[in-house]
Amino acid sequence: MTSSMKYLLGAAALSFGLASGAFAAEPAAAPAATAPTPASATQAPSPAPGAPMDRGEYVARLANCVACHSTPGGAAFTGGLKMMTPVGAIYATNITPDKETGIGNYSLAEFDKAVRLGVAKDGHNLYPAMPYPSYAKLNAEDVKALYDYFMKSVPAVKQANLPSEIPAPLNMRWPLKIWNVLFFDSDTYKPKAGKDASWNRGAYLVQGAGHCGACHTPRGIAFNEKGYDETDSDFLTGAPLDNWSAPNLTQAPGTGLGRWSHGDILEFMKTGKNQFGSAFGTMIEVINNSSQYLTDEDQTAMATYLKSLAPQKDGLSAPYAFDQNTATLLRNGKVEGAGATLYLQQCKACHGDDGKGYAPYLAPLAGNPAVLDPDASSLINITLNGSARIVVAGMPDSYRMPQFRVMMNDQKIADVVNFIRTGWGNKGSAVTAADVAKIRKETNPASDRIEVLRMK
Ligand code: HEC
Ligand code: HEC
Ligand code: HEC
Repeated sequence: MTSSMKYLLGAAALSFGLASGAFAAEPAAAPAATAPTPASATQAPSPAPGAPMDRGEYVARLANCVACHSTPGGAAFTGGLKMMTPVGAIYATNITPDKETGIGNYSLAEFDKAVRLGVAKDGHNLYPAMPYPSYAKLNAEDVKALYDYFMKSVPAVKQANLPSEIPAPLNMRWPLKIWNVLFFDSDTYKPKAGKDASWNRGAYLVQGAGHCGACHTPRGIAFNEKGYDETDSDFLTGAPLDNWSAPNLTQAPGTGLGRWSHGDILEFMKTGKNQFGSAFGTMIEVINNSSQYLTDEDQTAMATYLKSLAPQKDGLSAPYAFDQNTATLLRNGKVEGAGATLYLQQCKACHGDDGKGYAPYLAPLAGNPAVLDPDASSLINITLNGSARIVVAGMPDSYRMPQFRVMMNDQKIADVVNFIRTGWGNKGSAVTAADVAKIRKETNPASDRIEVLRMK
């Protein structure tokens, strides 16, 4: 291979790799920390959870197509969402049935090829920012239902696609064919013998339509997900993405879901909250657009599957145990150090002396796996920028994590994060002011865009 060829391959690998690694869309990087706009003012009505939905619409919910193929405030599925990569931006496309600018001319076979194999009608390979490596598992009936939904129920909207901003030669798509050979398995989900129907349904949903691994599975050298099911020990063990950390979803008792009961997982997927924590960052898109709409059977199946994942990569040397000491010191005002003082002044009113908050309404910090996560990006990000709205059953949340980026400098944020990382028995590694500076720079404070996207 000539050196220029190597350069091109490497550069192209980098460009699509980074595209997939950074696929969480731009608005997610800029959480709206301002006062909530009433949901009804900006959104068209959505079906009440539990309301009858046809199968295709249901699969679209499961797969959360709307989260990427829409812009906040724009018509559903018209595309235009910018996905940042360090070498340039790409845009999700119009997937309404408009014949000129959308997918109105796609046959069922062509649609299947795009959604499951990542190849568009004209033959060009899609960047794996489109999670086709997960959607490959979708069975034929679900793809057909999805196709019928897009063709018959989604209104056609003329809206031209925006060209990718990745400069030549990084924008070449042929290396994606090599990527597919190396990292991509096109098989649909095959039920596992010896597992019951609920487990298999859960596996199908988590690995396939739910594309949980796209955020929660660490990525390899070409930003390929390291594993697409439970047979791989890296699967769902947590990954950084867009200045958030999507935590470990295996049964690791400290940093994973080992202490969560089946019911705790169900409650989180339904309402975005439970006794251990609240959804924030990019997980809010999953709760707001997708998981809350699943049937009880499907939420149960997902929880059953997640509860079956062997504990991996806990990163905690000893099991989490609540330590009353921190609470006693805070209660008596006998705290030392900048972090503890900041906590007393800025955080205690909501999260409490005992770090238990008022779950599920005000998230606990004591023993919260997101706080114990070896990667502290989420903690830094949420303390800098606050959280976005959780909207469940059409009702926005009432309490919100405020932003502190204006009030606290990098050192102060690091101090208070280090305090919550080590208080009440938490044992998280230390963060530095430099870690905070990096995330402060990469998250945009000016944006007041609302992250909630609706299918209709
Ligand atoms: C995580 C973000 C994301 C999700 C979720 C997602 N897509 Fe995509 N999709 C993209 C991006 C980005 C592209 C364009 C990729 C490119 O230009 O290479 C794309 C491209 C496509 C295309 C090719 C369209 C064309 O231009 O010809 C189709 C069809 C498509 N998506 C359908 C779907 C459907 C159906 C769903 C839900 C089952 C879905 N997508 C979910 C990001 C996403
Ligand atoms: C006005 C109440 C309020 C104050 C003050 C507050 N928080 Fe929060 N915090 C919340 C709420 C509510 C959540 C849950 C996420 C959401 O729904 O916004 C949260 C979530 C968090 C989380 C993520 C945990 C999870 O599972 O959701 C962290 C970390 C956190 N807060 C840290 C802090 C720190 C550090 C301070 C002080 C600098 C602070 N909070 C001050 C209300 C508050
Ligand atoms: C777009 C990226 C993304 C996708 C897709 C995604 N998640 Fe998440 N998830 C996150 C992030 C970021 C967090 C950390 C914030 C939080 O705790 O809510 C998270 C947190 C969670 C938590 C809480 C874990 C904890 O320790 O607090 C659970 C449970 C979870 N996700 C389950 C799922 C499941 C199941 C799916 C697939 C149906 C999924 N997620 C898909 C980004 C994602």
